Amino acid sequence: MSLFDGLEGLSDRKRRVLELAHEYMIPNRVETFAALGVPMVIGKREGYRIWDMDGHELLDFHLNGGTYNLGHRNPEALAALGEALKFWDVGNHHFPSEPRALLAEQLASLSPGALHYCVFTPSGAEANDVAIKSARHATGRRKIVSLDSGFHGNSGLSGAAGNDDAAAYFFSDYPEEFVKVPFNDAAAMEQALSGDDVAAVLMETIPATAGFVMPEDGYLQEVKELCARHGSLYIADEVQAGLARTGHLWAVEAWGVEPDILVTGKGLSAGLYPIGAALLSREVGSWLSEKGWGYVSTFGGSELGCVVASKSLEICARPETLRNAREISDYLASGLDELSSRHPFLKGVRRKGLVMGLEFDDTAGGMTMSSMLYKHGIWAMFAGFDPSVLQFKPGLLVDRPYCDIALERLDAALAEVEASR
Ligand SMILES: Cc1ncc(COP(=O)(O)O)c(C=O)c1O
Repeated sequence: MSLFDGLEGLSDRKRRVLELAHEYMIPNRVETFAALGVPMVIGKREGYRIWDMDGHELLDFHLNGGTYNLGHRNPEALAALGEALKFWDVGNHHFPSEPRALLAEQLASLSPGALHYCVFTPSGAEANDVAIKSARHATGRRKIVSLDSGFHGNSGLSGAAGNDDAAAYFFSDYPEEFVKVPFNDAAAMEQALSGDDVAAVLMETIPATAGFVMPEDGYLQEVKELCARHGSLYIADEVQAGLARTGHLWAVEAWGVEPDILVTGKGLSAGLYPIGAALLSREVGSWLSEKGWGYVSTFGGSELGCVVASKSLEICARPETLRNAREISDYLASGLDELSSRHPFLKGVRRKGLVMGLEFDDTAGGMTMSSMLYKHGIWAMFAGFDPSVLQFKPGLLVDRPYCDIALERLDAALAEVEASR
């Protein structure tokens, strides 16, 4: 008797993948998705569509947190990688390299405020680690203040900084060094910084795993001012919110905040070659002039990754990409308003550009909709810290006909959920 016996239409090939993943990788995750009715093994993927190995077609509204902002296998990024493979490889991380140097310059020229240096990493989590270490060295302080609803990755420091139950589970939380405050609560932030002993505030500009709760007017500016007043640095984690999703290249720009450190990842890779980066002001990055081997990573800033990232960044920064993000946001918003007028289960929409969270009239509504939408041909994931919310992330380059199909499928899924309540 196999765990997957009850699942309909399972080919032998797909069953084997599920069984191998269950046996040799992460049983709990495989079981959880099977119980949710999402026994997905992604096969073909193209543009903003993915197909389960058994052929079930889905519009991708998860995009792996923005990794596929430009679509799966974006033709321009793919061509850049193909060209790069003829000459480059991972490179030797000790020496300067042309793709790495050019990408660093490109990032510096496109980043807000005084950000100047670029430290490349293989992941967003590790880029947050670099951000934390840089802030600690620059200030001579150890304490980090972050949000009780934040997520910054699963490495040591990034895990300790987020609301990451895995950190405590693995005895890798450091509560005396990592202080947590609620989002949108400037008074709590002021209190946390008042001892003048905090190296940095680390925040997602729009907390993703919390369900894209939007910053209230003036909140981010106030946090930045508090940091300046108390000698702490401001680290913007833009691994999800950055790279054009808000209709601005960086989400902080939408609120006029200039961080001391900005962290990027996911979409920078175009979903083709892993890369993350921490961008540091000259002051914060002063250690780079003193300690050339203070951070080294074999795969951080691999040459192939840098070529792809350079193309990804160029596409994200195009005026037409930013315009499309804003226009599609408005187009979807009117469709969602209309759906919400007919389906009271859809209670509200959180939105800044293409960063969207759908609120449902049930504490597990986001989870219910993840499962129902899977059946109706959309893959969108509930917010990990608030399962009443569904993260609804359209790609940067989607068009109106694609949105119309998505709204039709959403309509059908809402109707089926409401009929069953
Ligand atoms: C806001 C944010 N920061 C950091 C990370 C960690 O990135 P990575 O998975 O590349 O380590 C994530 C991943 O989901 C994220 O959502």
